[in-house]
Amino acid sequence: MADGTDQKSSNQMWGGRFASGPSAIMEEINASIGFDKKLYAQDIRGSMAHATMLASKGIISPDDKDKIIEGLNTILSEIEAGSFEFSRKLEDIHMNIEARLATLIGTAAGRLHTARSRNDQVALDFRLWVKEELQKTEGMLTALIAAFLDRAEENADTVMPGFTHLQTAQPVTFGHHCMAYVEMFGRDRARVRHAIEHLDESPIGAAALAGTGYPIDRHMTAKTLGFREPTRNSIDTVSDRDFALEFLSIASICATHLSRLAEEIVIWSTPQFGFIRLSDAFSTGSSIMPQKKNPDAAELVRAKTGRINGSLIALLTVMKGLPLAYSKDMQEDKEQVFDAAESLELAIAAMTGMIRDLEVRKDRMRAAAGSGYSTATDLADWLVREAGLPFRDAHHVTGNAVALAEKKGCDLADLSLEELQAIHPDITKGVFDVLSVEASVASRTSFGGTAPSEVKKQIAWWRGRN
Ligand code: ARG
Repeated sequence: MADGTDQKSSNQMWGGRFASGPSAIMEEINASIGFDKKLYAQDIRGSMAHATMLASKGIISPDDKDKIIEGLNTILSEIEAGSFEFSRKLEDIHMNIEARLATLIGTAAGRLHTARSRNDQVALDFRLWVKEELQKTEGMLTALIAAFLDRAEENADTVMPGFTHLQTAQPVTFGHHCMAYVEMFGRDRARVRHAIEHLDESPIGAAALAGTGYPIDRHMTAKTLGFREPTRNSIDTVSDRDFALEFLSIASICATHLSRLAEEIVIWSTPQFGFIRLSDAFSTGSSIMPQKKNPDAAELVRAKTGRINGSLIALLTVMKGLPLAYSKDMQEDKEQVFDAAESLELAIAAMTGMIRDLEVRKDRMRAAAGSGYSTATDLADWLVREAGLPFRDAHHVTGNAVALAEKKGCDLADLSLEELQAIHPDITKGVFDVLSVEASVASRTSFGGTAPSEVKKQIAWWRGRN
Protein backbone atom coordinates (compact mmCIF):
# COMPACT_ATOMS: atom_id res chain seq x y z
CA MET A 1 0.00 0.00 0.00
CA ALA A 2 1.17 3.49 -0.88
CA ASP A 3 0.32 4.73 2.62
CA GLY A 4 2.46 2.02 4.11
CA THR A 5 -0.40 0.28 5.92
CA ASP A 6 0.07 -3.39 6.43
CA GLN A 7 -2.91 -4.83 4.59
CA LYS A 8 -1.85 -8.41 5.03
CA SER A 9 -2.57 -9.20 8.63
CA SER A 10 -6.25 -9.25 9.54
CA ASN A 11 -7.39 -8.29 13.03
CA GLN A 12 -6.23 -10.96 15.44
CA MET A 13 -9.41 -10.83 17.54
CA TRP A 14 -12.18 -11.03 14.94
CA GLY A 15 -10.21 -11.49 11.74
CA GLY A 16 -11.16 -15.11 11.04
CA ARG A 17 -13.28 -14.33 8.00
CA PHE A 18 -11.31 -11.29 6.78
CA ALA A 19 -8.51 -11.72 4.28
CA SER A 20 -6.71 -8.45 4.92
CA GLY A 21 -6.35 -5.90 7.71
CA PRO A 22 -8.19 -2.58 7.93
CA SER A 23 -7.00 0.35 5.89
CA ALA A 24 -5.41 3.18 7.83
CA ILE A 25 -8.58 5.27 7.62
CA MET A 26 -10.76 2.39 8.72
CA GLU A 27 -8.45 1.79 11.64
CA GLU A 28 -8.63 5.42 12.63
CA ILE A 29 -12.41 5.78 12.45
CA ASN A 30 -12.96 2.43 14.13
CA ALA A 31 -10.59 2.73 17.05
CA SER A 32 -11.82 3.90 20.42
CA ILE A 33 -8.76 2.98 22.48
CA GLY A 34 -7.69 6.64 22.55
CA PHE A 35 -10.56 7.41 24.90
CA ASP A 36 -12.02 4.13 26.17
CA LYS A 37 -8.77 3.18 27.90
CA LYS A 38 -10.35 5.17 30.71
CA LEU A 39 -12.55 2.10 31.26
CA TYR A 40 -9.66 -0.28 32.00
CA ALA A 41 -10.45 -0.80 35.68
CA GLN A 42 -14.13 -1.45 35.01
CA ASP A 43 -13.26 -3.80 32.16
CA ILE A 44 -10.91 -5.85 34.31
CA ARG A 45 -13.35 -5.96 37.20
CA GLY A 46 -16.13 -7.10 34.83
CA SER A 47 -13.92 -9.80 33.32
CA MET A 48 -12.94 -11.12 36.73
CA ALA A 49 -16.57 -11.37 37.79
CA HIS A 50 -17.47 -13.04 34.51
CA ALA A 51 -14.62 -15.60 34.70
CA THR A 52 -15.45 -16.40 38.32
CA MET A 53 -19.07 -17.01 37.39
CA LEU A 54 -18.10 -19.16 34.37
CA ALA A 55 -15.96 -21.34 36.62
CA SER A 56 -18.59 -21.64 39.33
CA LYS A 57 -21.06 -22.86 36.69
CA GLY A 58 -18.56 -25.35 35.30
CA ILE A 59 -18.34 -23.51 31.96
CA ILE A 60 -14.57 -23.05 32.31
CA SER A 61 -12.19 -24.94 34.56
CA PRO A 62 -11.08 -23.58 37.94
CA ASP A 63 -7.53 -23.72 36.67
CA ASP A 64 -8.29 -21.53 33.64
CA LYS A 65 -10.20 -19.14 35.87
CA ASP A 66 -7.19 -18.79 38.19
CA LYS A 67 -4.92 -18.10 35.23
CA ILE A 68 -7.34 -15.51 33.88
CA ILE A 69 -7.63 -13.71 37.23
CA GLU A 70 -3.88 -13.73 37.70
CA GLY A 71 -3.29 -12.43 34.19
CA LEU A 72 -5.90 -9.69 34.64
CA ASN A 73 -4.21 -8.62 37.87
CA THR A 74 -0.91 -8.36 36.06
CA ILE A 75 -2.54 -6.24 33.34
CA LEU A 76 -4.12 -3.98 35.96
CA SER A 77 -0.73 -3.29 37.51
CA GLU A 78 0.85 -2.77 34.09
CA ILE A 79 -1.77 -0.19 33.13
CA GLU A 80 -1.49 1.56 36.49
CA ALA A 81 2.28 1.62 36.25
CA GLY A 82 2.05 3.12 32.77
CA SER A 83 3.95 0.25 31.19
CA PHE A 84 1.03 -1.24 29.24
CA GLU A 85 1.27 -0.70 25.50
CA PHE A 86 -2.07 0.25 24.03
CA SER A 87 -2.46 -0.60 20.38
CA ARG A 88 -4.82 1.11 17.98
CA LYS A 89 -4.87 -1.98 15.81
CA LEU A 90 -6.67 -3.71 18.65
CA GLU A 91 -9.42 -1.09 18.46
CA ASP A 92 -10.62 -0.75 21.99
CA ILE A 93 -9.89 -1.39 25.65
CA HIS A 94 -11.67 -4.75 25.62
CA MET A 95 -9.50 -6.21 22.87
CA ASN A 96 -6.32 -4.59 24.11
CA ILE A 97 -6.74 -6.29 27.45
CA GLU A 98 -7.78 -9.63 25.99
CA ALA A 99 -4.85 -9.68 23.57
CA ARG A 100 -2.41 -8.97 26.37
CA LEU A 101 -4.04 -11.69 28.43
CA ALA A 102 -3.40 -14.16 25.61
CA THR A 103 0.27 -13.17 25.57
CA LEU A 104 0.47 -13.62 29.32
CA ILE A 105 -1.47 -16.86 29.87
CA GLY A 106 -1.91 -18.48 26.47
CA THR A 107 -5.01 -20.48 25.47
CA ALA A 108 -6.91 -19.98 28.74
CA ALA A 109 -7.33 -16.32 27.70
CA GLY A 110 -9.49 -17.41 24.80
CA ARG A 111 -12.02 -18.89 27.22
CA LEU A 112 -12.77 -15.58 28.93
CA HIS A 113 -15.03 -14.39 26.13
CA THR A 114 -17.30 -17.46 26.43
CA ALA A 115 -20.97 -16.42 26.83
CA ARG A 116 -20.04 -12.78 26.40
CA SER A 117 -19.87 -10.21 23.60
CA ARG A 118 -18.23 -6.82 23.46
CA ASN A 119 -21.76 -5.48 23.29
CA ASP A 120 -22.64 -6.46 26.84
CA GLN A 121 -19.05 -5.94 27.92
CA VAL A 122 -18.97 -2.29 26.88
CA ALA A 123 -22.45 -1.72 28.30
CA LEU A 124 -21.16 -3.08 31.61
CA ASP A 125 -17.92 -1.13 31.69
CA PHE A 126 -19.55 2.13 30.79
CA ARG A 127 -22.40 1.66 33.25
CA LEU A 128 -19.93 0.96 36.05
CA TRP A 129 -17.98 4.08 35.11
CA VAL A 130 -21.06 6.30 35.02
CA LYS A 131 -22.24 4.89 38.33
CA GLU A 132 -18.93 5.76 39.98
CA GLU A 133 -18.98 9.21 38.42
CA LEU A 134 -22.48 9.82 39.75
CA GLN A 135 -21.34 8.76 43.22
CA LYS A 136 -18.47 11.23 42.98
CA THR A 137 -20.84 13.97 41.78
CA GLU A 138 -23.13 13.29 44.72
CA GLY A 139 -20.25 13.89 47.14
CA MET A 140 -19.17 17.06 45.36
CA LEU A 141 -22.69 18.47 45.41
CA THR A 142 -22.89 17.71 49.12
CA ALA A 143 -19.72 19.77 49.63
CA LEU A 144 -21.15 22.65 47.60
CA ILE A 145 -24.40 22.54 49.56
CA ALA A 146 -22.41 22.55 52.82
CA ALA A 147 -20.51 25.65 51.67
CA PHE A 148 -23.79 27.43 50.95
CA LEU A 149 -25.30 26.37 54.29
CA ASP A 150 -22.33 27.91 56.11
CA ARG A 151 -22.58 31.17 54.15
CA ALA A 152 -26.36 31.23 54.69
CA GLU A 153 -25.92 30.78 58.42
CA GLU A 154 -23.41 33.64 58.66
CA ASN A 155 -25.69 35.85 56.58
CA ALA A 156 -29.17 34.99 57.80
CA ASP A 157 -29.55 38.68 58.80
CA THR A 158 -27.57 40.26 55.97
CA VAL A 159 -29.97 42.45 54.03
CA MET A 160 -29.62 42.78 50.26
CA PRO A 161 -31.93 43.79 47.44
CA GLY A 162 -33.95 40.97 45.95
CA PHE A 163 -34.39 41.26 42.19
CA THR A 164 -36.90 40.40 39.53
CA HIS A 165 -36.00 41.34 35.95
CA LEU A 166 -32.68 42.30 37.60
CA GLN A 167 -34.56 45.35 38.90
CA THR A 168 -34.72 45.95 42.63
CA ALA A 169 -37.87 44.21 43.84
CA GLN A 170 -38.03 43.69 47.63
CA PRO A 171 -35.36 43.44 50.30
CA VAL A 172 -34.25 39.89 51.07
CA THR A 173 -31.42 38.42 53.07
CA PHE A 174 -28.23 37.08 51.56
CA GLY A 175 -28.82 33.96 53.65
CA HIS A 176 -32.14 33.47 51.89
CA HIS A 177 -30.50 33.97 48.51
CA CYS A 178 -27.85 31.36 49.39
CA MET A 179 -30.58 28.96 50.42
CA ALA A 180 -32.17 29.31 46.98
CA TYR A 181 -29.00 27.70 45.61
CA VAL A 182 -29.14 25.02 48.28
CA GLU A 183 -32.59 24.12 46.92
CA MET A 184 -31.27 23.99 43.35
CA PHE A 185 -28.21 21.90 44.11
CA GLY A 186 -30.30 19.77 46.46
CA ARG A 187 -32.57 18.93 43.52
CA ASP A 188 -29.51 18.13 41.42
CA ARG A 189 -28.27 15.80 44.12
CA ALA A 190 -31.66 14.11 44.33
CA ARG A 191 -31.55 13.58 40.56
CA VAL A 192 -28.08 12.07 40.90
CA ARG A 193 -29.28 9.69 43.62
CA HIS A 194 -32.25 8.68 41.53
CA ALA A 195 -30.05 8.06 38.50
CA ILE A 196 -27.80 5.77 40.54
CA GLU A 197 -30.83 3.69 41.52
CA HIS A 198 -32.10 3.73 37.98
CA LEU A 199 -28.93 2.37 36.38
CA ASP A 200 -28.22 -0.17 39.10
CA GLU A 201 -28.81 -3.20 36.85
CA SER A 202 -26.10 -5.42 35.45
CA PRO A 203 -25.87 -5.77 31.64
CA ILE A 204 -23.31 -8.60 31.56
CA GLY A 205 -24.72 -11.84 30.19
CA ALA A 206 -26.96 -10.17 27.61
CA ALA A 207 -24.19 -11.26 25.22
CA ALA A 208 -24.45 -9.94 21.65
CA LEU A 209 -28.18 -9.20 22.00
CA ALA A 210 -30.05 -12.48 22.42
CA GLY A 211 -28.62 -13.87 25.63
CA THR A 212 -26.70 -17.14 25.59
CA GLY A 213 -27.20 -20.90 25.70
CA TYR A 214 -24.47 -21.38 28.31
CA PRO A 215 -25.84 -21.95 31.80
CA ILE A 216 -24.61 -18.58 33.11
CA ASP A 217 -25.74 -16.95 36.34
CA ARG A 218 -26.46 -13.29 35.73
CA HIS A 219 -27.64 -12.75 39.30
CA MET A 220 -24.25 -13.85 40.51
CA THR A 221 -22.30 -11.43 38.30
CA ALA A 222 -24.73 -8.65 39.16
CA LYS A 223 -24.10 -9.22 42.86
CA THR A 224 -20.32 -9.47 42.50
CA LEU A 225 -20.24 -6.20 40.60
CA GLY A 226 -22.38 -4.37 43.16
CA PHE A 227 -25.54 -4.09 41.07
CA ARG A 228 -28.99 -4.56 42.58
CA GLU A 229 -30.06 -7.07 39.91
CA PRO A 230 -29.47 -8.04 36.26
CA THR A 231 -31.25 -6.22 33.41
CA ARG A 232 -34.34 -8.03 32.16
CA ASN A 233 -34.18 -7.77 28.37
CA SER A 234 -31.02 -8.66 26.52
CA ILE A 235 -31.95 -6.71 23.38
CA ASP A 236 -32.61 -3.53 25.36
CA THR A 237 -29.51 -4.10 27.45
CA VAL A 238 -27.03 -3.82 24.62
CA SER A 239 -28.83 -0.92 22.93
CA ASP A 240 -29.58 1.12 26.04
CA ARG A 241 -27.57 4.25 26.76
CA ASP A 242 -30.22 5.94 28.89
CA PHE A 243 -27.84 5.92 31.83
CA ALA A 244 -25.41 8.05 29.82
CA LEU A 245 -28.20 10.34 28.66
CA GLU A 246 -29.46 10.67 32.21
CA PHE A 247 -25.99 11.52 33.41
CA LEU A 248 -25.70 14.18 30.71
CA SER A 249 -29.13 15.66 31.34
CA ILE A 250 -28.48 15.83 35.07
CA ALA A 251 -25.09 17.38 34.32
CA SER A 252 -26.72 19.91 31.99
CA ILE A 253 -29.32 20.98 34.53
CA CYS A 254 -26.69 21.20 37.25
CA ALA A 255 -24.35 23.13 34.96
CA THR A 256 -27.21 25.49 34.17
CA HIS A 257 -27.59 26.18 37.89
CA LEU A 258 -23.85 26.71 38.21
CA SER A 259 -23.94 29.06 35.25
CA ARG A 260 -26.71 31.18 36.76
CA LEU A 261 -24.74 31.40 39.97
CA ALA A 262 -21.62 32.27 37.99
CA GLU A 263 -23.53 35.05 36.29
CA GLU A 264 -24.58 36.45 39.67
CA ILE A 265 -21.00 36.30 40.90
CA VAL A 266 -19.86 38.19 37.82
CA ILE A 267 -22.49 40.87 38.40
CA TRP A 268 -22.01 41.08 42.17
CA SER A 269 -18.26 41.48 41.89
CA THR A 270 -18.43 44.50 39.56
CA PRO A 271 -17.44 47.81 41.18
CA GLN A 272 -20.98 49.02 40.36
CA PHE A 273 -22.63 46.32 42.49
CA GLY A 274 -19.73 45.57 44.80
CA PHE A 275 -21.75 43.03 46.82
CA ILE A 276 -18.86 40.59 47.06
CA ARG A 277 -15.12 40.51 46.76
CA LEU A 278 -13.65 37.37 45.20
CA SER A 279 -10.56 35.91 46.79
CA ASP A 280 -7.31 36.20 44.87
CA ALA A 281 -7.41 32.44 44.54
CA PHE A 282 -10.45 32.63 42.25
CA SER A 283 -9.76 35.76 40.22
CA THR A 284 -7.08 37.12 37.93
CA GLY A 285 -5.61 40.49 37.12
CA SER A 286 -5.45 42.20 33.75
CA SER A 287 -2.17 42.39 31.88
CA ILE A 288 -2.82 46.02 30.94
CA MET A 289 -5.29 47.50 33.45
CA PRO A 290 -3.75 47.35 36.92
CA GLN A 291 -7.00 48.13 38.76
CA LYS A 292 -8.80 45.04 37.48
CA LYS A 293 -9.70 41.86 39.27
CA ASN A 294 -11.54 39.56 36.91
CA PRO A 295 -13.93 36.79 37.92
CA ASP A 296 -12.39 34.32 35.45
CA ALA A 297 -13.31 31.20 37.39
CA ALA A 298 -16.98 32.22 37.39
CA GLU A 299 -16.84 33.08 33.71
CA LEU A 300 -15.32 29.71 32.88
CA VAL A 301 -17.94 27.88 34.93
CA ARG A 302 -20.55 29.77 32.91
CA ALA A 303 -18.82 28.76 29.68
CA LYS A 304 -18.38 25.07 30.62
CA THR A 305 -22.17 24.87 30.65
CA GLY A 306 -22.19 25.32 26.89
CA ARG A 307 -19.90 22.36 26.53
CA ILE A 308 -21.89 20.14 28.85
CA ASN A 309 -25.19 21.02 27.17
CA GLY A 310 -23.51 20.31 23.85
CA SER A 311 -22.58 16.82 24.99
CA LEU A 312 -26.18 16.06 25.88
CA ILE A 313 -27.41 17.19 22.48
CA ALA A 314 -24.61 15.27 20.75
CA LEU A 315 -25.50 11.96 22.39
CA LEU A 316 -29.24 12.44 21.98
CA THR A 317 -28.55 13.01 18.30
CA VAL A 318 -26.34 9.92 18.03
CA MET A 319 -29.02 7.75 19.61
CA LYS A 320 -32.14 9.10 17.94
CA GLY A 321 -31.86 7.14 14.70
CA LEU A 322 -30.59 3.80 15.96
CA PRO A 323 -32.59 0.64 15.44
CA LEU A 324 -32.30 -2.07 18.09
CA ALA A 325 -29.93 -3.41 19.19
CA TYR A 326 -26.23 -2.39 19.19
CA SER A 327 -24.81 -0.16 16.45
CA LYS A 328 -21.25 1.11 16.27
CA ASP A 329 -22.61 4.67 16.47
CA MET A 330 -22.86 4.01 20.19
CA GLN A 331 -19.10 4.07 20.50
CA GLU A 332 -19.49 7.86 20.28
CA ASP A 333 -21.17 7.87 23.69
CA LYS A 334 -18.03 7.88 25.79
CA GLU A 335 -16.21 11.04 24.82
CA GLN A 336 -19.32 13.11 25.45
CA VAL A 337 -19.77 11.66 28.91
CA PHE A 338 -16.07 11.83 29.81
CA ASP A 339 -15.80 15.44 28.69
CA ALA A 340 -18.99 16.50 30.45
CA ALA A 341 -17.95 14.69 33.63
CA GLU A 342 -14.58 16.40 33.68
CA SER A 343 -16.13 19.82 33.03
CA LEU A 344 -18.82 19.32 35.65
CA GLU A 345 -16.38 18.20 38.32
CA LEU A 346 -14.20 21.20 37.66
CA ALA A 347 -17.15 23.58 37.66
CA ILE A 348 -18.54 22.27 40.97
CA ALA A 349 -15.10 22.35 42.59
CA ALA A 350 -14.40 25.91 41.40
CA MET A 351 -17.80 27.08 42.56
CA THR A 352 -17.42 25.45 45.97
CA GLY A 353 -14.09 27.23 46.36
CA MET A 354 -15.53 30.57 45.31
CA ILE A 355 -18.50 30.32 47.66
CA ARG A 356 -16.27 29.36 50.59
CA ASP A 357 -13.77 32.14 49.85
CA LEU A 358 -15.84 35.12 48.77
CA GLU A 359 -16.08 38.14 51.01
CA VAL A 360 -19.62 39.39 51.58
CA ARG A 361 -19.73 43.21 51.59
CA LYS A 362 -22.63 43.71 53.96
CA ASP A 363 -22.43 47.53 53.85
CA ARG A 364 -22.80 47.59 50.07
CA MET A 365 -25.67 45.11 50.16
CA ARG A 366 -27.43 47.08 52.89
CA ALA A 367 -27.07 50.37 51.00
CA ALA A 368 -28.41 48.83 47.79
CA ALA A 369 -31.24 47.11 49.65
CA GLY A 370 -32.66 50.45 50.71
CA SER A 371 -32.53 52.06 47.30
CA GLY A 372 -34.90 51.62 44.40
CA TYR A 373 -38.06 51.90 46.56
CA SER A 374 -37.61 48.31 47.63
CA THR A 375 -40.10 48.69 50.49
CA ALA A 376 -42.93 49.97 48.30
CA THR A 377 -44.80 46.68 48.74
CA ASP A 378 -44.46 47.11 52.53
CA LEU A 379 -46.14 50.52 52.28
CA ALA A 380 -48.97 49.03 50.24
CA ASP A 381 -49.33 46.16 52.74
CA TRP A 382 -49.39 48.69 55.61
CA LEU A 383 -52.23 50.58 53.91
CA VAL A 384 -54.20 47.34 53.59
CA ARG A 385 -53.52 46.27 57.17
CA GLU A 386 -53.73 49.59 59.05
CA ALA A 387 -55.97 51.75 56.86
CA GLY A 388 -58.26 49.02 55.54
CA LEU A 389 -57.67 49.80 51.85
CA PRO A 390 -58.23 47.11 49.23
CA PHE A 391 -54.81 45.98 47.93
CA ARG A 392 -55.39 47.41 44.43
CA ASP A 393 -56.11 50.89 45.89
CA ALA A 394 -53.13 50.60 48.23
CA HIS A 395 -50.97 49.72 45.22
CA HIS A 396 -52.15 52.91 43.48
CA VAL A 397 -51.55 55.13 46.53
CA THR A 398 -48.07 53.65 46.93
CA GLY A 399 -47.38 54.36 43.27
CA ASN A 400 -48.10 58.03 43.95
CA ALA A 401 -45.69 58.00 46.89
CA VAL A 402 -42.97 56.41 44.75
CA ALA A 403 -43.55 59.04 42.03
CA LEU A 404 -43.16 61.83 44.59
CA ALA A 405 -39.98 60.32 46.06
CA GLU A 406 -38.60 59.89 42.56
CA LYS A 407 -39.36 63.56 41.76
CA LYS A 408 -37.63 64.65 44.96
CA GLY A 409 -34.74 62.25 44.40
CA CYS A 410 -35.15 60.60 47.81
CA ASP A 411 -36.19 57.25 49.30
CA LEU A 412 -39.70 56.45 50.51
CA ALA A 413 -38.57 56.61 54.13
CA ASP A 414 -37.26 60.15 53.52
CA LEU A 415 -40.69 61.54 52.66
CA SER A 416 -42.24 63.51 55.51
CA LEU A 417 -45.45 62.45 57.22
CA GLU A 418 -47.17 65.55 55.79
CA GLU A 419 -46.13 64.61 52.26
CA LEU A 420 -47.41 61.07 52.76
CA GLN A 421 -50.67 62.29 54.27
CA ALA A 422 -51.19 64.56 51.29
CA ILE A 423 -51.18 61.38 49.22
CA HIS A 424 -53.51 59.52 51.61
CA PRO A 425 -54.95 61.08 54.77
CA ASP A 426 -55.09 57.79 56.73
CA ILE A 427 -51.30 57.41 56.80
CA THR A 428 -49.85 57.78 60.32
CA LYS A 429 -46.30 57.91 61.61
CA GLY A 430 -46.49 54.15 62.33
CA VAL A 431 -45.84 53.68 58.62
CA PHE A 432 -42.15 54.51 59.13
CA ASP A 433 -41.75 51.24 61.05
CA VAL A 434 -42.30 49.23 57.87
CA LEU A 435 -40.36 51.42 55.48
CA SER A 436 -36.98 50.21 56.74
CA VAL A 437 -35.46 47.23 54.97
CA GLU A 438 -34.85 45.41 58.25
CA ALA A 439 -38.52 45.66 59.18
CA SER A 440 -39.53 44.59 55.69
CA VAL A 441 -37.33 41.50 55.80
CA ALA A 442 -38.29 40.55 59.36
CA SER A 443 -41.99 40.72 58.49
CA ARG A 444 -41.77 38.07 55.75
CA THR A 445 -42.26 35.06 58.01
CA SER A 446 -44.42 33.01 55.66
CA PHE A 447 -43.10 29.45 55.17
CA GLY A 448 -40.06 29.70 52.90
CA GLY A 449 -40.00 33.50 53.22
CA THR A 450 -36.99 35.77 53.66
CA ALA A 451 -37.31 36.59 57.39
CA PRO A 452 -34.11 35.61 59.23
CA SER A 453 -36.17 33.41 61.57
CA GLU A 454 -37.57 31.51 58.61
CA VAL A 455 -34.21 31.23 56.84
CA LYS A 456 -32.69 29.71 59.99
CA LYS A 457 -35.44 27.09 60.03
CA GLN A 458 -34.66 26.17 56.43
CA ILE A 459 -30.95 25.91 57.21
CA ALA A 460 -31.70 23.55 60.10
CA TRP A 461 -33.93 21.42 57.85
CA TRP A 462 -31.17 21.06 55.25
CA ARG A 463 -28.50 20.35 57.85
CA GLY A 464 -30.62 17.40 58.99
CA ARG A 465 -30.70 15.99 55.47
CA ASN A 466 -27.05 15.98 54.45
N1 ARG B 1 -15.62 -0.14 21.18
C1 ARG B 1 -16.99 -0.55 21.10
C2 ARG B 1 -17.86 0.53 21.73
O1 ARG B 1 -17.35 1.37 22.40
C3 ARG B 1 -17.18 -1.84 21.84
C4 ARG B 1 -18.31 -2.67 21.33
C5 ARG B 1 -18.03 -3.17 19.98
N2 ARG B 1 -19.00 -4.13 19.57
C6 ARG B 1 -19.05 -4.55 18.31
N3 ARG B 1 -19.96 -5.40 18.05
N4 ARG B 1 -18.27 -4.07 17.40
O2 ARG B 1 -19.06 0.56 21.53
